[in-house]
Amino acid sequence: MCGIVGIVGNKPVAERLVDALKRLEYRGYDSAGVATINAGRMDRRRAEGKLFNLEKRLSEEPLPGTTGIAHTRWATHGVPNETNAHPHFVEGVAVVHNGIIENFSELKDELIADGAIFNTQTDTEVVAHLLAKYRRDGLDNKAAMLAMLNRVTGAYALVVMYQDDPDTIMAARSGPPLAVGFGKGEMFLGSDAIALAPFTNEIAYLVDGDCAVIHHGGAEIMDFAGKPVERPHQISQASAFMVDKGNYRHFMQKEIYEQPEVIAHALSHYVDFSSYTVREDNDAIDFAKLRGLAVSACGTAYLSGLIGKYWFERYARLPVEIDVASEFRYREMPLSQDQAALFISQSGETADTLASLRYCKDAGLKIGAVVNVKESTIARESDAIFPILAGPEIGVASTKAFTCQLAVLAALAIRAGRARGHLSAADEKTMVRQLAEMPRIMSSVLNSLQTKVEALSRDLSKFKDVLYLGRGTSYPLALEGALKLKEISYIHAEGYAAGELKHGPIALIDENMPVIVIAPHDRFYEKTISNMQEVAARGGRIIFVTDVKGAAASKLPTMETIVLPNVPELISPMVFSLPIQLLAYHTAVFMGTDVDQPRNLAKSVTVE
Ligand code: F6R
Repeated sequence: MCGIVGIVGNKPVAERLVDALKRLEYRGYDSAGVATINAGRMDRRRAEGKLFNLEKRLSEEPLPGTTGIAHTRWATHGVPNETNAHPHFVEGVAVVHNGIIENFSELKDELIADGAIFNTQTDTEVVAHLLAKYRRDGLDNKAAMLAMLNRVTGAYALVVMYQDDPDTIMAARSGPPLAVGFGKGEMFLGSDAIALAPFTNEIAYLVDGDCAVIHHGGAEIMDFAGKPVERPHQISQASAFMVDKGNYRHFMQKEIYEQPEVIAHALSHYVDFSSYTVREDNDAIDFAKLRGLAVSACGTAYLSGLIGKYWFERYARLPVEIDVASEFRYREMPLSQDQAALFISQSGETADTLASLRYCKDAGLKIGAVVNVKESTIARESDAIFPILAGPEIGVASTKAFTCQLAVLAALAIRAGRARGHLSAADEKTMVRQLAEMPRIMSSVLNSLQTKVEALSRDLSKFKDVLYLGRGTSYPLALEGALKLKEISYIHAEGYAAGELKHGPIALIDENMPVIVIAPHDRFYEKTISNMQEVAARGGRIIFVTDVKGAAASKLPTMETIVLPNVPELISPMVFSLPIQLLAYHTAVFMGTDVDQPRNLAKSVTVE
């Protein structure tokens, strides 16, 4: 949520700042702004809406200057308009902020009583006013920054520039990520390493409670008391070229079609394709000795965890407690040290998931992280990192990260099953072979589905409500289908366990509510068909997503049947994800929505 960037440079920065914002636009995109210092004067350009509006503003009225800061916003306090867009200026201080200042209202009252005049509805403006006040009180810029940091509470990444010091930018982190980039005579700050990739790959990540002062010669990093701290320099693998749509119309489409390749890459990290065994090179979590596994995540990542639960319990007889992180962190569930905890997050920065992780860490549990961004906070705070190796996911709706998370969880469940003596060496071989075949099967499914799904999406886009049903691992997939459709097409959709249909949602069934039934010909097929029968009997229109055997076995009339190849039960969630994703994608395209950056959403949710 919100992307921030800063450059103390030796050549003009405005264009470079906007270039970096483009790589951060996935974090928020309802307004954007840039400020620079030129000839002792600070100036800014801001614009509501997407970044191209800001680019247009800058082309009409360029901003010279070799030091500057910039921001792309995902609104929390105050509507997304130009006034509320960052950077915020108060008396020669410029501030950009990602996160929430929790005590802003109390600070605002105090500052107003002291004569401050507020121009925006944002929480961020209190930071600029506090800094201005401390400077008026006689503190130098660094002392003012530290005094401010000791007053504000909440989750924030802040970058601050002072008009009277064009060679310095200050930053602080308490929650959302912030990286310092080291260049030649130039220094950088950014919400992630991808933003800084064209400038430098030498990065130091700030940790919570760090304040950094960057200048041409380097960075000083200290705690909020001003005591110097060292943060290791890392060579980031992030590269600017990765954020390219190629020949695809949207990032989401590209990411859907990339899945066979990235899953093969992810699997090769976890399984040995020559011996068909699961690798055991990460031993921080000893599955053999565990009494249980606590799993937590948000959104799509949570749904991959829910599928993982079915696998860990079935193949490894390992009990799994799973909850969405926003509930998990406050549930005060009893934990014991013979459990381990697993956190699943594409970004590795989701605030609720991170808080749940810290809760489990405090309880003494070993922590595993299934993450895409290996340098993320969740990864860094874990005992064992299980990377999903999906490559940058730019489309806000998660697709390839979901199936890569599933591939990793499947490999871990097999490993746990072996370690706990519930799977034999022969079982392992069979299951790993099934995983190994998955990329090829996914590729043929993607090639065969396009036309049919596109035509179906045209019909689906005419409806206002859609119901998804599934059993077993197809139940979380039903939830994922509904989430995907609503977030990018804005069509209302619900996912239900098929067996729950008659406990309430059946009341909704009529010809205006298509029901998407996900039913491979597995152990649950007959039962799901009974539920489908109940829908048909009430005039419901059925979109049947099944396999060759499933299609042959059903005689029920459908609005459309999507037929996938027969695949082993283990890999069906990954293969069946494809029509679900494509259906949401093409429906959104027909609806004319902003597929990659749907309204109100952000890719990385670093606030509660
Ligand atoms: C939905 C989606 C979100 C994320 C959720 C967690 O398509 O992408 O539901 O899955 O915000 O994000 P991460 O995985 O970054 O923790």
